[in-house]
Amino acid sequence: MKDKIRVAVLAATGSVGQRFVSLLARHPWFEPVVLTGSSRSVGRRYGEVVRWVVPGGIPEALQEVVVRPSEEPPGDVALIFSALPAAVAGEIEPRLAAQGYAICSNASALRMEPDVPLLIPEVNPDHLALIDVQRRQRGWQGFVVTSPNCSTTGLIFPLKALHQAFGVSRVHAVTMQAISGAGYPGVSALDILDNVIPYIAGEEAKIEVETRKLLGTCDQDQISQAPILVSAQANRVPVLDGHMAVFSVQLTGQPPLAQVLDALQRFTPPKAVRDLPSAPRRPLVLLKQQDRPQPRRDRDLGEGMVVSVGRLQACPVLGYRMVSLVHNTLRGAAAGAILNAELLVAQGYIAA
Ligand SMILES: NC(=O)c1ccc[n+]([C@@H]2O[C@H](COP(=O)([O-])OP(=O)(O)OC[C@H]3O[C@@H](n4cnc5c(N)ncnc54)[C@H](OP(=O)(O)O)[C@@H]3O)[C@@H](O)[C@H]2O)c1
Repeated sequence: MKDKIRVAVLAATGSVGQRFVSLLARHPWFEPVVLTGSSRSVGRRYGEVVRWVVPGGIPEALQEVVVRPSEEPPGDVALIFSALPAAVAGEIEPRLAAQGYAICSNASALRMEPDVPLLIPEVNPDHLALIDVQRRQRGWQGFVVTSPNCSTTGLIFPLKALHQAFGVSRVHAVTMQAISGAGYPGVSALDILDNVIPYIAGEEAKIEVETRKLLGTCDQDQISQAPILVSAQANRVPVLDGHMAVFSVQLTGQPPLAQVLDALQRFTPPKAVRDLPSAPRRPLVLLKQQDRPQPRRDRDLGEGMVVSVGRLQACPVLGYRMVSLVHNTLRGAAAGAILNAELLVAQGYIAA
């Protein structure tokens, strides 16, 4: 690419926003030029106002950028990455899309809108067909594409591999979610140290409905949700990064263990996705050791873009059970949304 694509990051001061800034500052296609925040940060230098909590320093070139309001049009950019809280994303993102901006959002506000793609390039790239529907129905020049909830992302890779090989009918999942999933400052140390909190507001419903949309079929104008019964229970655990899910799954046709193993091992992304800059060679990796995956040891596989799976065994209740792990602020948030944007560029939705 001759000239990089100018992009804005909304809520660049938060923990997901910082991941965006850090990844985009060294991205081969995108150049972050506009950073926004809440009224707390507007008008101040990014390097002064951000409480930097991700690895590596604040990118030198962005230290002096003055933080702008999230609700104002960001000017001359071709793409917006949004790490806004859902409550404000629901108002700001549609307004910016109506003004002509392409938006890749991490917020949950629009994920389940019937005309908004909920995208993971390796799982459902065909759902991008909804962009034309969205523009037509809403009269927008721009559009919004969303990324799933971070825990859904960890479950969806093994479920996709199994659904395309056999058909999945039921899933029961219990998540153990890192504290970075709650943003910064997030959960109080007094609540989470030496503890597990068996409640994360809204999380269980998100996992249940987003799974059905992601695995649904797209017939041009709409998504038919996959007929899968999903039950999720979400827990916050004292881990910094990396959401784990232990889950049981019922498959169609009761395939033998060797075939299930093979389906997980053989999962490969569609051709259109394999060569994108942020795409890992293998997005789903099966770990053979009996005590893996583990957040501290496995969350950074493939620079945080690989979902790892292990402990595959028979389940006396639903058929099979296993454990999956995803890096929640990379594949599950900023890096996943950047991969979405790369697919949008490759498919001509954003001018290079
Ligand atoms: N953390 C994860 O693992 C994860 C994963 C997937 C999706 N998400 C989603 O990503 C979004 C950001 O999460 P986070 O973890 O980065 O949260 P966070 O660390 O709490 O950051 C919140 C960000 O939102 C900004 N903000 C707050 N109120 C605002 C307002 N009224 N108008 C404009 N900006 C406002 C803050 O700006 P100031 O600093 O200037 O106040 C800050 O940049 C959320 O929608 C979350 O659900 C998070």
